[in-house]
Amino acid sequence: MTGTNNEKESARQRDYMDRVRVLTEGRGLKYMVVTFGCQMNEKDSEKIAGSLQKMGYEKASSEEEADVLVYNTCTVRENADKRLYGRLGVCKSYKEKKKEMIIAVCGCMMQEEHVVERIRGSYAYVDIIFGTHNIFRFAELLFNRLDSGSQIIDIWKETDEIVEDLPSARKYSFKSGINIMYGCDNFCSYCIVPYVRGRERSRDPVEIIREIERAAADGVVEVMLLGQNVNSYGKGLDTRVSFAMLLKEAASVPGIRRVRFMTSHPKDLSDELIDVIAENEIIARHIHLPLQSGSDRILKEMNRHYSKESYIGLADRIRKEIPDVSITTDIIAGFPGETERDVEDTLDVIERVRFDGAFTFEYSRRSGTPAADMEQLDKVFVQKSFDRVLKTVQRVSREQASRFKGRTMEVLVEGEDEKDPARYTGRISQNLVVHFPKETAKVGDMLQVTLDECMGFYYNGKIIGHG
Ligand code: 5AD
Ligand code: SF4
Repeated sequence: MTGTNNEKESARQRDYMDRVRVLTEGRGLKYMVVTFGCQMNEKDSEKIAGSLQKMGYEKASSEEEADVLVYNTCTVRENADKRLYGRLGVCKSYKEKKKEMIIAVCGCMMQEEHVVERIRGSYAYVDIIFGTHNIFRFAELLFNRLDSGSQIIDIWKETDEIVEDLPSARKYSFKSGINIMYGCDNFCSYCIVPYVRGRERSRDPVEIIREIERAAADGVVEVMLLGQNVNSYGKGLDTRVSFAMLLKEAASVPGIRRVRFMTSHPKDLSDELIDVIAENEIIARHIHLPLQSGSDRILKEMNRHYSKESYIGLADRIRKEIPDVSITTDIIAGFPGETERDVEDTLDVIERVRFDGAFTFEYSRRSGTPAADMEQLDKVFVQKSFDRVLKTVQRVSREQASRFKGRTMEVLVEGEDEKDPARYTGRISQNLVVHFPKETAKVGDMLQVTLDECMGFYYNGKIIGHG
């Protein structure tokens, strides 16, 4: 799409919200948004929920109770796809009981043609299908569905548009994700994200800071800056601004007590960024730095643009400059052509970097990516590699977690401990969880908590001070 400017577009969507509101007024209608996948999708879901609230819908307590049910999908690995089809199967019975129910599916999976075809063919009762590029048009799509009664399918191949100033319903009162950029230009050979999320586009820094200020005014104390590759933030903007500069500015917004960010690509992480983090306690002592593989040969095949030793060198610099920092990672086991020796290189990096946490994934073939055309490995072999990686990373992370035992750390209270209503769950800057008796604290408080007992990947502790 071309030509529409942001302000015009957001005014247009607000107009559609008003028009839907006229239709829903006084009917006590409810919505539910179900999110699969990453923080980026969580954020998109907050935008959809925000529009629905503006349109007069209230949050439902179950999928079945909803009058508008939205599935925001993920396609980064295959099992997410399977989960959606299972859920859509169940939806049929909801709709048999409640004919007026509107089912919408959106997100990354919808950017794949074969998915839309399958839904059209086998799940014809789905009312609205849209993709990642036109989420901001949700109000218009819903209005058109209500108005016409027919199925709406609207998928865009690309967009260069970023529409600001639309409503968003925060999932948490005290923390919020903030998009700083959309899309990805890296084309790692296994990854479908660049195809379903499009080219990299950075948001205007003024808009980003304004959103953080508004969040702080609402009581948000922690923000997470979101992008597929935050380290390349700023490309293509009129103002010359690096990610490190943006981060520094975000951390200086009054009321903001902690700033996190996700995700960093090792090839683009600058010394300037390391310095900014080191100098600024508000920025979390946590860097998520996806390794993917420790083998130079596999890294090359993956199109990652760094080597085993350069990754280790970067991690060493980060640990040296930022005391107490935690470094977490993503690792893929079973990429095409990976041998036992390649896995050993990955294990070696785990031992040398001493990751504080890792998400380990079995390689998943995504059609349309270069790696999908390479010769795939035997599943049993992949499973074996995965188990080796997982075992090593879990041992190392457990050892790493215990290094804070006995320390007093700043903890943000996140909510009630699921297992014990007399206790809270909170998080330290390094992203470790701690449980402790509630006393007089409340959700969103920043406390001083002693980390008394290490339970593997989390702590039990007690409050020793506020602020
Ligand atoms: N198979 C397995 N894992 C993948 N990831 C991305 N694409 C794939 C794939 N095809 C993992 C990477 C990335 C994380 C978000 O998901 O590790 O960092
Ligand atoms: Fe996928 Fe690589 Fe982009 Fe991350 S950096 S979203 S792994 S292509």
